[in-house]
Amino acid sequence: MTSLPKGSAVHPDPTIHAPGAEGEGRKVYFVSFGCQMNVLDSELVLGDLDRNGYSRTDVMKDADVVLINTCSIREHAEDKVWSLLGRARQVKSTRPDMKIGVMGCMAQRVKDAIIHRAPHVDLVLGTSGFRSAARDLEDLFAGGGRVVRVDRRPDPEFLPDADREVTARPDAFRAYVTVMRGCNHDCTYCIVPHTRGKEVSRPLEELLDEVRRLVDDGVREVTFLGQNINTYGKDLHPQRKHTGEICTLLERSAEIDGLDRIRFLTSNPFDMTEDMMRRFGQVPKVMPWLHIPAQSGSDSVLRRMRRHYTVAQYHEVVGWARKHIPRVEITCDFIVGFSGETDEEFEGSKQLVRDIGFMQTYVFKYSLRPNTISARQLPDDVPEDVKRRRNIELLAVQDEIAMARNEGLIGTQVEILIEGISKSDATRVTGRDHSNRLIHCPGEASMAGRMATVEIEEAGAHSMIGRMVALEGTH
Ligand code: 5AD
Ligand code: SF4
Repeated sequence: MTSLPKGSAVHPDPTIHAPGAEGEGRKVYFVSFGCQMNVLDSELVLGDLDRNGYSRTDVMKDADVVLINTCSIREHAEDKVWSLLGRARQVKSTRPDMKIGVMGCMAQRVKDAIIHRAPHVDLVLGTSGFRSAARDLEDLFAGGGRVVRVDRRPDPEFLPDADREVTARPDAFRAYVTVMRGCNHDCTYCIVPHTRGKEVSRPLEELLDEVRRLVDDGVREVTFLGQNINTYGKDLHPQRKHTGEICTLLERSAEIDGLDRIRFLTSNPFDMTEDMMRRFGQVPKVMPWLHIPAQSGSDSVLRRMRRHYTVAQYHEVVGWARKHIPRVEITCDFIVGFSGETDEEFEGSKQLVRDIGFMQTYVFKYSLRPNTISARQLPDDVPEDVKRRRNIELLAVQDEIAMARNEGLIGTQVEILIEGISKSDATRVTGRDHSNRLIHCPGEASMAGRMATVEIEEAGAHSMIGRMVALEGTH
């Protein structure tokens, strides 16, 4: 569960709150589940609420509004929302004025179940209609009835990415920017095409403008987001075969003074070309880190998943990256226990982890999602304990590899953008290096937002510790 920091505005700007703004004095308890895009969508809504005078609370019983941004990718994520809604119902029974809202993928996917099972929910906003939250809450507080917006085509007044309040964000120096929403693929296990619909790209100039506004407000690093970012812009230029428009976006963003680092995800192995890798490698501000989900290291499983590549083709894509992007690191997603996965097929995933040498791997137990192709055609036949065991095993292989690779970095120097005080040790600061590795080193809060050169002294599988040898702005 990700819950954005209380008080979303990093630089509280008194001019944002119009005097007598509708939400003035109201408190919102906000919880965000799921992917980075959800983190950003939550931020967009919190920005709107901030503009309307709402403040955050992390105590549900103090809240005037409980708003949950939901995820449908695995059943477990949905279960957590149902249980949170149960808690909210109890609180609402003592505070009948409280408003409860559900937004995002689950609101889109199971709106009917929410409406019937959770009559205490006042607001249901799907993946396209969520930017009306502030206005809808106003109507609800004025006595209006339940609002449900799950239309795929958003009300033009409330486009998902319009008019972003750049000052309202949890991190002063880093920001996410959504470049496209939806996905045109049909991976058999995946609910995303169902909840988020077909790919819709945002115009290049609109994105550059958003990046400029973020940079003017102090952002040094942006991460562009899209479910299948390789095809960014394809829907804007349907006449072209393969546009590589994502490369143009990266190249043009790199021209923005004050922006130091550019990242992007998710790069699937399909829709990728060697020429795109070459262009990524030619832009120094583009950081050498690619998230390329493999999902499986077995050709037969990949076929059942309809991933449209083989293990050999996956290797080829990683080969292009390593050829054209100096010091590139690759991170990966795997699903274990997919329909019919045998021990031998699972061994293929372990082998791929060893052969590629990922920097990090995220492993998920297959979760059957209603209305996906696999739910209709393929049995969910790998027992839960086998899924669990494979999950642990694959992570163990990955940890061993990451540990060995990170130990190899001891004594070398990396550059980090300092994010702030480490969550686990108040005498240290935390930052990420070019390849998105998590690095801790002694420091203090005032260093946040500056680059530092760190010599690595200790390595773990998931993070490293070093000493600062240079700090930007000091001699
Ligand atoms: N079950 C388990 N994991 C899934 N993912 C997507 N759909 C499912 C599912 N039904 C994983 C994939 C994807 C990541 C975001 O979530 O690995 O890359
Ligand atoms: Fe889902 Fe496949 Fe699209 Fe990724 S590429 S969002 S896994 S359908």
